[in-house]
Amino acid sequence: MIGCQELNYSTGGKRILDRVSASAPSGAITALVGPNGAGKSTLLAMLGRMLVPDSGMIRLGGENAAALARAAFARRVTTLRQATRITPRLTVRDLVGFGRYPHNPGHLTAADRKIVDACLQDLALSDLAERHLDTLSGGQQQRALIAMALAQETEVLLLDEPLNNLDLTHARRVMQILAQRSRSGRTVVTVLHDLTIAARFADHVIAVKDGQVLNEGAPATVFTPEVLSQLYDAQVEVHLIDGKPVILPI
Ligand SMILES: Nc1ncnc2c1ncn2[C@@H]1O[C@H](COP(=O)(O)OP(=O)(O)OP(=O)(O)O)[C@@H](O)[C@H]1O
Ligand SMILES: [Mg+2]
Repeated sequence: MIGCQELNYSTGGKRILDRVSASAPSGAITALVGPNGAGKSTLLAMLGRMLVPDSGMIRLGGENAAALARAAFARRVTTLRQATRITPRLTVRDLVGFGRYPHNPGHLTAADRKIVDACLQDLALSDLAERHLDTLSGGQQQRALIAMALAQETEVLLLDEPLNNLDLTHARRVMQILAQRSRSGRTVVTVLHDLTIAARFADHVIAVKDGQVLNEGAPATVFTPEVLSQLYDAQVEVHLIDGKPVILPI
């Protein structure tokens, strides 16, 4: 699991996170939802130690994350940020190979290369493996970044809007892969704007508004018209199809 207690963070004279306490369980997908500017990326970056809170604590398993050495933390937690700039002259295979760096800096072993191949295949990138990143479409680049994140095989995966630019088939594929990873005991935390996808795949939901946790719990308790209308300051309808919520703005 990964979680936080009483996180506070201000920047530019503005309170961005306000006493945020939340927890993402192991063996589950946690969806981080909420309106633009709510603080989701800030919270995710803090869980991944990319940003340091003004106060509060991050817990990784039973440990205080801040007490772990950076390299040890990198072997346990992967963060894929929202706007990741690509290095154009790298090939897709090079990029995914970098995912193995925390485990084997400087060289890839045969086992690493096998993991890279499997991640390329999982993201339907095998045929594009030798292409330079700047020759790829937006969705293909995004899939390469996800493959790099998956190649790290860490116990915790923090993903900020991983479905950006992905078509329906690839979005579903990515969520299925994340579900597989979670079933094997890993902790997946992902920012999602598509609430119907979140309702379908997430086991746990953290709803953030104005830098605070508005609601946290099972999808059925967070994805209600009442909570969502408050979260987005908009009228929202929730319909059940096969017992799963489908969320519609009205
Ligand atoms: N360096 C900064 N200076 C001032 N404000 C900042 C800074 N970084 C972030 N913010 C503000 O913090 C708030 C939260 O930003 P954050 O990126 O966490 O939102 P988000 O929930 O991920 O939104 P989105 O859905 O649009 O990605 C926003 O109002 C943003 O403008
Ligand atoms: Mg964001």
